[in-house]
Amino acid sequence: MKSALESGTPSADRSAFRRTLGEFATGVTVITTTVDGASYGLTSNSFSSVSLDPPLVLWSIRRESQSFAAFEACEYFAVNVLADDQIGLSQLFAKSAPNKFQDVAHAKGRGEAPLLHGVAASFECRRTCAYEGGDHLILVGEVETFSRYDRAPLIFSKGRYAVTANHPDVAALAVAAPPPAPQGESEVLSNLMIRAYSLIASEVERARIKAGLGLTLMQARLLRACAANPGSTLEALLPELLLDFNSSQNVLGTLVSLGLVTADAQNRVSLTLAGEVRVKEIIAHARQCEEMLFRNVPAEELATMNSTLSRIICANEATRRASTG
Ligand SMILES: Cc1cc2nc3c(=O)[nH]c(=O)nc-3n(C[C@H](O)[C@H](O)[C@H](O)COP(=O)(O)O)c2cc1C
Repeated sequence: MKSALESGTPSADRSAFRRTLGEFATGVTVITTTVDGASYGLTSNSFSSVSLDPPLVLWSIRRESQSFAAFEACEYFAVNVLADDQIGLSQLFAKSAPNKFQDVAHAKGRGEAPLLHGVAASFECRRTCAYEGGDHLILVGEVETFSRYDRAPLIFSKGRYAVTANHPDVAALAVAAPPPAPQGESEVLSNLMIRAYSLIASEVERARIKAGLGLTLMQARLLRACAANPGSTLEALLPELLLDFNSSQNVLGTLVSLGLVTADAQNRVSLTLAGEVRVKEIIAHARQCEEMLFRNVPAEELATMNSTLSRIICANEATRRASTG
C-alpha cells in the first residue's frame, strides 16, 4: 500500500484534518431562510440527502455564523444547489454581511425562503429536527418541493471549485440523452450492435488487464463460450467467437497450456477447475465494469436490452441448431 500523504489525529494537526476532509468532493449550496421578515443565506457544502421516504435532507451550520440564530429558529429553509457559473454567489454567501440578497435575483418560496435564480436545483424544506454536532448544529428538513434545471452543478473538491466531467473509463457510454438517430449504414441494427459491443468489449478488456486478470479478449471469450456450452466442439463454438478456425485453435492452445481448458481427441472442449474459477472471476469483473459503463442508462432500458438480446440469441441458436441438424 502507498504511504499516506498526511495522517494523524484531528487534534494534533487541524489543517491536515481539514485537507483530508477536502478529499470528499461535494456540490455547493446556498441555504436560505426568512425569519421575522429578514432573509438570511450562507454557502454550505455540508448538505446531504438522508431519506427518500419520508424525503429528508440535512446540513450543518457553524454556531458562530451570523445567521445561526435565524436558522435555529426558522420553520422553513431552501437549499439552492449552485450551477457551475455561480462561484460569485458562493463567494458572496460565504461572507458575513448584512442584506446579502440586495443584488441577487431571487424569488420567495415556502416560508418566504429565498430561491436563487440560475441554480442547478432547489429544495424547499420544512425544518423538522436539529441535532447537536459539536461546533455545528445539524438541521434536518423535510423536502416539500424540489426543482431541477438544465444546468451543470458547481463542485467543491480539495478546497477548490471544480466542474463535473465524465470519467474517462465511462466516457464512451456516458450518454445523458439518447444520441440523434443514426444515419447511413449504422441504421442497420446489427451494425449498431457490433459498434456497441466493440466499445464495451474494449473497455472491459482494458479494465480486465488493469485488474491483472491476465487474459486477452479472445481468450476470455473462448473461456466463457466453453462455460456456456459444456462439451461442445471448437467448430460448434466458432459463431460465438467471431474468429476463423485456425485462430480459434491458437487461442484454445494457449488456454490448454494455461491449464484452464482441456480438449479431447474430437476437439470437445471443457473447463478445468482452474478454468471454472477464472470464468467466475471474469464474470464478476465484467459485472463490475458494466455497473460503471451503463450507470447513465436507465434501469428499465437495460432490462429491455437484456430481454431483447436474450430473445435474439435464443431465436438464432434455435435456427442454427435446426440448420446444422
Ligand atoms: C464551499 C463552502 C462551504 C461551506 N459550508 C458551510 C457549511 O456547511 N456550514 C457552515 O456553517 N458554513 C459553511 N461555510 C462557511 C459559511 O458560508 C460562512 O461562514 C458564512 O460567512 C456564513 O454566513 P453568515 O455568517 O452570514 O451566517 C462554507 C463556505 C464555503 C466557501
